[in-house]
Amino acid sequence: MTATLISGRAIAAEIRAEIEERVRDLREREGLKPGLATVLVGEDPASQAYVGMKNRAAGELGIHSRQITLPAETSEMELLGLVQGLNVDPEIHGILVQSPLPAHIDEGRVLLAIDPSKDVDGFHPFNVGLLATGAEDVLKPCTPAGIVELLVRSGNPPAGKRVVVVGRSNIVGRPMASLLLRKGPGGDATVTVAHSRTPDLGAVTREADIVIVAVGRPRTLVGDMVRPGAVVIDVGSNRIDDPDTEMGYRYVGDVDFDEVVEVAAAITPVPGGVGPMTITMLLSNTVDAAVAIRSGGRAVS
Ligand SMILES: NC(=O)c1ccc[n+]([C@@H]2O[C@H](COP(=O)([O-])OP(=O)(O)OC[C@H]3O[C@@H](n4cnc5c(N)ncnc54)[C@H](OP(=O)(O)O)[C@@H]3O)[C@@H](O)[C@H]2O)c1
Repeated sequence: MTATLISGRAIAAEIRAEIEERVRDLREREGLKPGLATVLVGEDPASQAYVGMKNRAAGELGIHSRQITLPAETSEMELLGLVQGLNVDPEIHGILVQSPLPAHIDEGRVLLAIDPSKDVDGFHPFNVGLLATGAEDVLKPCTPAGIVELLVRSGNPPAGKRVVVVGRSNIVGRPMASLLLRKGPGGDATVTVAHSRTPDLGAVTREADIVIVAVGRPRTLVGDMVRPGAVVIDVGSNRIDDPDTEMGYRYVGDVDFDEVVEVAAAITPVPGGVGPMTITMLLSNTVDAAVAIRSGGRAVS
């Protein structure tokens, strides 16, 4: 068997076109322009690149974007003050504070300061709690929300399927399980979460109709760990040396693509699989937040 490729690039482009239309509609019919503020503290080059991509993508879809860059010495008090200002800024519906923050700033405290109705990353404990208790109307963490879209739009809805999620991080594994357990479209799966203390991982993943791997280690999932005909979603993004490339490195996932593509029915590539979905869902959350705040629906502060 050679698996079908699930193209995150193609599905992200489809969703971005839908978001662009929603944004145009909101502006023309309601005079509402969704706004995203990104806050970067310090000069970490990878964070600068991520924030730049997020703002560019927002601008391309007609979303107002404001990039705020602060020096690495910014105090926690100053950052909290800035967040409080954004919480009450009527032009801003989504607030994203880029992680990691400098060591002298408590990330948890900053996260708690963000108005949950503007928490477009979906990491505020209020939203995490809503998601874990199966709420319908909640800002969902972007990477797992993007994976649900990949599954549904590629014709592999998780309902009724046995899904194994490998990894239990707060940004991918845990919220992934919460989303898949919800009742209704995109959910209704039977979910197992595996992690570094799971003995005989292969015995667990071989039971799955859908395997989602978010570990951060190449070749965590190899061919004989997959049931023939399963669907495999590779969240991993690992930089490995490759002297044959212009840059001297390239990115691989957590799945041994060459082996698993021969066993699975469908698989996401790296790059071009889960990656393009994450920013897309951030933009989708920003529009959802703008609509909810306008209607007074989700504002909790
Ligand atoms: N494409 C995207 O948009 C995107 C977004 C987010 C993350 N990622 C990528 O996804 C990967 C995971 O990210 P993360 O933030 O979730 O990582 P993380 O916070 O480091 O969590 C990794 C998880 O994998 C588990 N694990 C480690 N070794 C394992 C093993 N040998 N067998 C089974 N489980 C193992 C860990 O278990 P313990 O809990 O027991 O330690 C942990 O739960 C990374 O490569 C990251 O770059 C990509």
